[in-house]
Amino acid sequence: MPLWVYIASLLVVCVCVYLWVLERRARSKFAGIPTYPLLPFIGNVHQVLGDGKQVFQHMDRISRICDDNMSPFVVWLGPCSILVTHDPDDVKSITNAFVEKPYYYSFGRIWLGDGLVTAPGVVWKHNIKKLAGTFTSSVVDGYLEIFNAQAHRLVENLKTEVGKGPFDVIHKYLAYTTLETICQTALGVSMISESIVTTEYYDAFNRCLELIIMRAMNVLVHPDCIYRLTPAYREMVKCVEVLHNVSDTVMKKRKQEQKDTKKSKAENNNNGKASAAKFKAFLDILLELHETDATLTEQQVRSEVDTIIVGGQETVASTLFYTMLMLGSKPRVQDKMYAELRSIFGDSSSPISKEDLSRMVYCEAIINETLRLYPPVPGVLRYADRDLPLKSYTIPKGTAIAINSWGAGRSERVWGPDAKEYRPERWLEDQGPGQPGAFLAFSYGRRACIGKKYAMALLKTVLAHCVRELEFVSDPSNLELKVDIALRAVAGNLIQVKLRERK
Ligand code: HEM
Ligand SMILES: *[C@@H]1O[C@H](CO)[C@@H](O)[C@H](O)[C@H]1NC(C)=O
Ligand SMILES: *[C@@H]1O[C@H](CO)[C@@H](O)[C@H](O)[C@H]1NC(C)=O
Repeated sequence: MPLWVYIASLLVVCVCVYLWVLERRARSKFAGIPTYPLLPFIGNVHQVLGDGKQVFQHMDRISRICDDNMSPFVVWLGPCSILVTHDPDDVKSITNAFVEKPYYYSFGRIWLGDGLVTAPGVVWKHNIKKLAGTFTSSVVDGYLEIFNAQAHRLVENLKTEVGKGPFDVIHKYLAYTTLETICQTALGVSMISESIVTTEYYDAFNRCLELIIMRAMNVLVHPDCIYRLTPAYREMVKCVEVLHNVSDTVMKKRKQEQKDTKKSKAENNNNGKASAAKFKAFLDILLELHETDATLTEQQVRSEVDTIIVGGQETVASTLFYTMLMLGSKPRVQDKMYAELRSIFGDSSSPISKEDLSRMVYCEAIINETLRLYPPVPGVLRYADRDLPLKSYTIPKGTAIAINSWGAGRSERVWGPDAKEYRPERWLEDQGPGQPGAFLAFSYGRRACIGKKYAMALLKTVLAHCVRELEFVSDPSNLELKVDIALRAVAGNLIQVKLRERK
């Protein structure tokens, strides 16, 4: 045997032994925590990365293992560990301790830059201080006119499906309704009937999400240097151009308009119209902040606006879908919701005001119950940038942690033996159900959703418009789920509508 072959083999063996020792050391940190059987080096990659249907199966199985053992679970993607948990106390500690996210989130950064969802910890800390106060109740109240107009239009569209078979309500209607609504409120439009979502924008938006998901599912293209060589990357860049172009164009226009109104205000000495005062697009709020704070750059404003649009679009559309699905198979719940609407609106189909929203208590319980069982974002990730001792184990620095919202919502330990049953009444019982840290649809702790009030107001408005006029019929036993980052239905034709007979 030539000497070089000998030396090369020796080197290879050394490297393998070294890697193996490193791996052993990494794995020993999680000794005693349940995991799937491991292969050397690749860990569980072959078991857990597959299509969204498989990911869903694993998520559900891991949730049960965690519940049964009262313990977290660890998944190994090669040398990287992901610790999965939904224990309410641990979730509280983790989400309050860590604001850093693992590198998977950087897949969205071509599009969303340093917006709140994808920003690294330090950048997030700086920006959240400015943005935390932006989605106040009064800002959201200013959006009700748009919410009502969009809800009304959705009902008119759904009426065209009356008397027909089950249809794909998300892709045919809801996705568009929510994207249009969120764009109108995030970017601002002068007239409510004006549409800003073109087919080009809509397609680019959906394609971008799809490309991010495809990348997340394929470890081979996780490193940036490799991803940049793929056709997927080039397509992503093209789609992002379309999306950025829209936010940029609107932003320029708004800046100009703001300058103009300032001038005319100065000239008219506060004789401006009062009616324009209430609606304030998210973009306008950010541009005002940008005027007084140079650290909030135009680029950053655009990233925040794009982030809001992504954050609110599919989440709200899916919540509407799962709620319609539940209502359609629980006539008792749907009737009770209708009765509540009757008690508020009588026979009137007037727009819904903020007072009306606060009276829709049962409707809110319905939404909470939907989000508990079908969290549109079934899990979020955090990165441990230091050791964190918890009640039964310590999370070592460098661990990626998956907070399992799906598991939390279905935990019998927390919600009782009827955890898997859809029962909105549980939210209205004296004690309130579950416990803090177990309702995770909006995440929890320091990096939780900032759009909750917005989401609730929009969901209630749309559902009220729908249930006042229509009745849903569905068969959720055909519902098959998958996890494409978001929790999605595999096939969509599950819902039918009937015109409501006024009783
Ligand atoms: C039912 C609807 C919604 C659900 C279930 C939902 C869920 C979530 C979740 C789970 C997170 C945490 C993400 C993570 O840590 O990776 C989040 C963050 C966020 N959401 Fe929502 N969301 C909803 C609606 C909205 C809406 C309507 C908006 C905006 C109008 C919005 C804006 C955001 C933003 C900006 C963040 C990032 C917060 C931060 O990191 O500081 N969300 N949302
Ligand atoms: C950007 O948008 C403007 C106006 O909507 C359009 O005229 C222009 O062609 C767009 N540019 C790109 C690169 O898409
Ligand atoms: C719905 O859940 C939220 C927690 O996110 C809670 O504050 C609210 O009171 C719940 N609503 C009802 C009607 O129980």
